[in-house]
Amino acid sequence: MAPLEKGVLGKGLAIAETLRLNEHVNAEQKIKVARFLDLGIAALKSGYRNALYDYHFSDDPAPSSAAGKKTGCSAADIAAEIVSCSGCRLGKTRNRAVPGEGSEHPLVLVLGEGPGAEEDATGRPFVGPAGQLLDRMLASICLFREKNCFIANTVKCRPPGNRDPEFQEIRACAPFLIRQIEVLKPRLILAVGKVAANRLLHAGPGQNGDEESPPEPIGRLRGRFFDFAFPGSRGDSYPLSSAGDSGIRILATYHPSALLRDDSLKIPVFEDLKKLMLRLAALDEGYRQESRALMAKYAAKDPVFAAGAEEFLS
Ligand code: URA
Repeated sequence: MAPLEKGVLGKGLAIAETLRLNEHVNAEQKIKVARFLDLGIAALKSGYRNALYDYHFSDDPAPSSAAGKKTGCSAADIAAEIVSCSGCRLGKTRNRAVPGEGSEHPLVLVLGEGPGAEEDATGRPFVGPAGQLLDRMLASICLFREKNCFIANTVKCRPPGNRDPEFQEIRACAPFLIRQIEVLKPRLILAVGKVAANRLLHAGPGQNGDEESPPEPIGRLRGRFFDFAFPGSRGDSYPLSSAGDSGIRILATYHPSALLRDDSLKIPVFEDLKKLMLRLAALDEGYRQESRALMAKYAAKDPVFAAGAEEFLS
């Protein structure tokens, strides 16, 4: 392929020309072109920055270290991009971006909404009061951020005044989240709160370019397992990632901040966490062993849970 000119228009014209001249464009190439076109649309709609995502073609010269960073990247590489990102207006008001932290091979990716004041000051996710409660929630089912979880947010920079992140902000940050999921390969994603659940389930505002669609209330999404689909596999027009069955499951529950405001939500959240515990025990032998004692304790108090846990405790 001839070297592409710099700039969106030059790249678009060069790709269109390549397609015109080439009768045998394969699926991989088509996906790359579709991503590129979506990038252009996103740029026009929301100021999405080209620097957030890079494109590589099989007949490109061997990638330089900078380009290679974006294809074969690690969680640390993505974090480095996040901290220097100014792809939406949150980049102008944040103190520190918050890429996320935890195991590089997590069983569970825990996904929140966006950093609050403490997270913005420290650059670490979920370190304020909601974060301390989250750690206790996770520990109640043998999950720990430093051991078998990765904790991240839907948007990586603090929305001023802790408002909900907006359509353009969620959209601009989406490539980072998708790449984190690709690299971390969690078995399961625990979405805490409406924003994370809607983002992952490709519903609500900011999804599919539909600014108007209302979010699904978390009360309707929580407590059920869903399959995570990478953008592209459900007709989603995001400029990123691969299509196909990811093999990753999603469970949504209430956000710990909601629990701090309303104590009564602790009961349904604990029910959701116990479901998560059983699912993880079915998926992972190591987790099954580690959680055995806790599982036996819960089974002694809860006959429904005991029935589910029977096969792991016998
Ligand atoms: N709330 C979130 O959703 N994320 C954080 O990191 C902290 C509070």
